[in-house]
Amino acid sequence: MFREDDRASVERIGAAEDPGSMAADVRAGLLGVPKDLSPWPKYLYDERGSELFEKITTLPEYYQTRAEAAILEEHARGIFARAGCRELVELGSGAASAKTRALLDAMSAQTLSNVRGGSADDESTAIHYVPLDVSESALVGSARVLLDEYPQLCVSGFVGDFEGCLKSLLARPPWPGGRLVALLGGTIGNFTPEKRRAFLSRLRAGLGDGDHVLIGVDLVKDACLFEAAYDDEAGVTAEFNKNLLSVLDRELEADFDPSLFEHRAFYDAENARVEMWLHSKVEQEVPVGALDLTVRFGAGEGMRTEISAKFTRESAGEMFAEVGLDLVELYTDPDDLFGLALGRPEEV
Ligand code: SAH
Ligand code: AVI
Repeated sequence: MFREDDRASVERIGAAEDPGSMAADVRAGLLGVPKDLSPWPKYLYDERGSELFEKITTLPEYYQTRAEAAILEEHARGIFARAGCRELVELGSGAASAKTRALLDAMSAQTLSNVRGGSADDESTAIHYVPLDVSESALVGSARVLLDEYPQLCVSGFVGDFEGCLKSLLARPPWPGGRLVALLGGTIGNFTPEKRRAFLSRLRAGLGDGDHVLIGVDLVKDACLFEAAYDDEAGVTAEFNKNLLSVLDRELEADFDPSLFEHRAFYDAENARVEMWLHSKVEQEVPVGALDLTVRFGAGEGMRTEISAKFTRESAGEMFAEVGLDLVELYTDPDDLFGLALGRPEEV
């Protein structure tokens, strides 16, 4: 898929892509009441979806990426002083971001300080980055730029679904000294509660004693900040949401007309989550050829496309505790918009 001498590779991981699984997921989602594709957020991230998400991260209303980057600017060195490792595994890594660079800079600095006084040969100062994402384009792009920027970096990238291939990813022999497994950007909030628990249990089961996890969590705050962040003035989030319809058209021979759907986003305070929906403006029937199905939408009927759960210090701690992880520290930005939860396997 991509290989650059001995320093970088990007390959597929996990079971060979099952062409039936998207069809099964979408069929279940379209036949549900309400129609609900939110359990499978990965379908939002085709090449166009990944580009649109990158645009979202720069929007004035979307505070999350800036807040998380600020936390890493401040605390990445402290995180590696605690984790003390030379391997960063990043799940749902997306495009090479300033956040990834902040982590790689800190890991590199920590590695150099560990060998100070000894001989700093190439082997003892090498660092390893293991990104995993469903988006091949994002992964190959990021491997290319990071290799140029970090001469001491080796990249082993994997294209796969982190719900399906976590076990095989974590079973690979780690570099000496433990790993930091990161899931940034609030992506943990995009799982349903059941899938989140199952994912974190699998993550916990794959960790060794010296390993740590670093999970980004968007924090509970005023609803109007959420509603602006998920329904921005420029309409980029609306386009990101509607791009899902183009994915269904292309992959499943559907015939959605995006102009007949309206983007909606609201904060459900009781369940502490933002929900993104597409509402049909008219009564319509949409064929989905690959499913041999015609889907009927009533005028005003909605289809949920994403959930984005929000956390408190307490709920982040509970999320870790229920799968056997100790919350070592919850780092936050000065405005308490976002948190980065550092954890490690519970001591028994
Ligand atoms: N970590 C980046 C990107 C977050 S967007 C950041 O913090 O800015 C969410 C990322 O997770 C996207 O790159 C998307 O392609 C990836 N993703 C979503 N569902 C996935 C899945 N099931 N398996 C692997 N990657 C997934
Ligand atoms: C990737 N994920 C954490 C984003 C979020 O905020 O839930 C995806 C997103 N959806 C709309 N805007 C951004």
